[in-house]
Amino acid sequence: MSNTVTAPNIPILEVPITAEIESLRPHYTLERKEEVKARIRTLLKEQNAVLVAHYYVDEDLQELAEESGGYVSDSLDMAKFGNEHSAETLVVAGVRFMGETAKILNPEKRVLMPTLEAECSLDLSCPIDDFNAFCDQHPDHVVVVYSNTSIEVKARADYVVTSGIALKLVTWLGEQGKKVLWAPDKHLGRYIERVTGVDMTIWKGACIVHDEFKSRSLGKLADEYPAAAILAHPESPEEILLLADVVGSTTQIINAARDLPHKQFIVATDSGIFYKMRQLVPEKEFIEAPTHGEGATCKSCAHCPWMAMNGLHNLLHVLETGENEIHVDEEIRVKALRSTQRMLDFASAQ
Ligand code: 13P
Ligand code: SF4
Repeated sequence: MSNTVTAPNIPILEVPITAEIESLRPHYTLERKEEVKARIRTLLKEQNAVLVAHYYVDEDLQELAEESGGYVSDSLDMAKFGNEHSAETLVVAGVRFMGETAKILNPEKRVLMPTLEAECSLDLSCPIDDFNAFCDQHPDHVVVVYSNTSIEVKARADYVVTSGIALKLVTWLGEQGKKVLWAPDKHLGRYIERVTGVDMTIWKGACIVHDEFKSRSLGKLADEYPAAAILAHPESPEEILLLADVVGSTTQIINAARDLPHKQFIVATDSGIFYKMRQLVPEKEFIEAPTHGEGATCKSCAHCPWMAMNGLHNLLHVLETGENEIHVDEEIRVKALRSTQRMLDFASAQ
């Protein structure tokens, strides 16, 4: 096993501050909120549109997606749902790579997003020119990229995966004796390498939300709650994953919260996930894994600033105006479709 981590310098990122993003949203009265939601439901119906949301977006959007016949899920199931649904318009509440993935798979559909400014630090950490050079240096490796990447990076990759199927796909490649070039999340890459033993060369990106979890403070919290199970998303640092009882995609850790006999859970992922966990098992207690502690510089504090840019106000706006449509270059889309379709095919064969 190589455990080599080589990559060019990662760009310095401008990270918005979640609390500032949230303070900029209009604060509706309950009555106004219901009016806005009702108007959105009407517009979705009139435009033969369906709302597909990630677990990390505002709970109003998650609620609206579910009650309007849309869907709330992890990034893999969002892609599958959009691909299988007959709506002419997909409204994707999440971050840009989720909207782009929907467009890669569904060029005939209109794909709208409440905001086009919702980035992802993993996507931003992997500029296509540097990534191409990285791939060129390792021509004997199979290129596997996380879905949290740009369409150009997907177009260069052999396979796209999400955290829901990354372990299985890399295991399968390892069984064929393949070496894997992995990008962009170093924590997820190292986790897969450790569990599968596959020879991997790993890019150095990180999620600015999960990277903030602190293992020493988590250990102390676990001592305070000895009966709690620890659930972690694999974008978290290795020291966190080593403390976790379950490591998995957002859907996988929600299912663990539902299915495990524990009554308390410490959860190391974006706090947006608590809405679904509490909805599914309201009798259980969910505790946020700590982002404070030694060396804390947290700007996100367990809530992704880019996910927080999605709100009822901008969802209504795009449905009223048709703004924020995702457009992609057709030649690049066709190339990105190859690796992205492989993700869906691999997932459905499991
Ligand atoms: P999931 O695929 O597990 O939903 O993860 C997406 C993501 O961006 C997590 O930070
Ligand atoms: Fe990207 Fe992290 Fe935000 Fe997920 S939580 S969209 S990985 S920055």
